[in-house]
Parts: sequence; C-alpha cells; structure tokens
Amino acid sequence: MRKTTSTDGAGPGTYDASPYVPADADLAALRRAAAGCEGCPLYRDATQTVFGSGDATARVLLVGEQPGDQEDRRGEPFVGPAGRLLARALDEAGIDPDETYVTNAVKHFKFTRTGPGKRRIHKPPTLRELTACKPWLLGELREVAPEVVVALGATAGKALRGSSFRVTRERGVPLPMPDGGDGVLVATIHPSAVLRADEDRDAVYEGLVADLRVAAGALA
Ligand code: URA
Ligand code: SF4
Repeated sequence: MRKTTSTDGAGPGTYDASPYVPADADLAALRRAAAGCEGCPLYRDATQTVFGSGDATARVLLVGEQPGDQEDRRGEPFVGPAGRLLARALDEAGIDPDETYVTNAVKHFKFTRTGPGKRRIHKPPTLRELTACKPWLLGELREVAPEVVVALGATAGKALRGSSFRVTRERGVPLPMPDGGDGVLVATIHPSAVLRADEDRDAVYEGLVADLRVAAGALA
C-alpha cells in the first residue's frame, strides 16, 4: 500500500506554535523563543523570524499581516515602504510612532519567486498559518497590555476577530478587545493598500489616518 505523505511535512491540522511558546514568558523571552519556532512550514524558506518590536509598555499596539521582503532580511517589522507610510500616518493621527509596539499576525515571510530576477513576491498567509502563529501574538498582547490594538488590514482583523472579519464593514469604529481583554480594538486598512492604490491614493491614505485618529481618540 502506498504511504500517504503530507506535502507540507507537518501533517494536516498540526500547524501550531504553542509547543514553542514558553509559559508566562516576558517579551524578551518570547522573542528569543520565537526565533526557533517551527510551528508551521513558513520558517523553512524565510530568512528569520520577525517578532514584534517597539515600546514594550506601549499604549498602542499595531498588528500587520506578515513581514515583507525587507523585514525578512532585517528581522524587524515595518521597516520597508509600508512601514514608512504607517509611521507618517500615525504621526498625522497624533500617535507618536516611537511610542507604539508593532508586530504581525504571522511572524515569517511567505513568498513565491517569479520573473527573470526571481524576485520574492509576497503571498498571503492561509487561515491555518494564521491560527498556528496566533500564540505569539497572544503572548505579545498579554505582555504589552496595550489600551488600543490596531488591526492593519483583513489578515490582522481575522487573526483578532475571527475569519468572518471584513475590514470594509468593521473599520474605524471601536470594537471590543479580543478574548474579553481591557481596552479597544480599531481596525483599518493595511498601509500597503495605500501604496497599491492607482487612483485616489490620497483619499485611501486619508481613510487610514481617519481610522488611526479613532484609535488615538480611544486613549484615555
Ligand atoms: N507589511 C506587514 O504587514 N508587516 C510588515 O512588517 C511589513 C509589511
Ligand atoms: Fe512559527 Fe509563526 Fe513562523 Fe509559522 S509563521 S514557523 S507559527 S513563527
């Protein structure tokens, strides 16, 4: 009889970062442990784990999707074009970027290689990968204990609100914190959506800033 083997190596239903997450660890210990996570197959092709960074006592914690090409190389979240745009939008909304903590729903870069130069093109993570990686995000939320969490885009929204989350429907309004925590959640578009917009880029950007102002206003 032919043996069935899973092509991803982990087997169905077994993607899970939990075995790698130390109990009651502080942020520094979580970061160290995440560097060795093999909870889903994404660690294999990526350069390194990109854990969250910023102010460990931040009142505002922002959640993106996953590291991009530059983040993967540098090991820091939001250091590429999307990060620069985000910092500008935060500043305009009255939130000091240096007083935030930024992270991603998924901690490894997922990509395909296309074109003659074999450029690495971002691929959205699956719900399975998102679910596998969530224990790291929960650890960050517990340790930073922010007053406001900002979900940047659909992936972050799904990670925090479940798979029925729709950014168009739920953006720009204070929502309950996931898992009954204190504080509020505010969802908005991903900063990359501004960079991708062909028309009305200014309006798309202003929409992001407006949502971030809602987050700023939710701070006591
Ligand atoms: N996009 C994200 O969602 N996260 C990053 O860290 C960079 C780009
Ligand atoms: Fe672990 Fe998340 Fe990386 Fe998957 S994406 S290997 S769960 S850190």
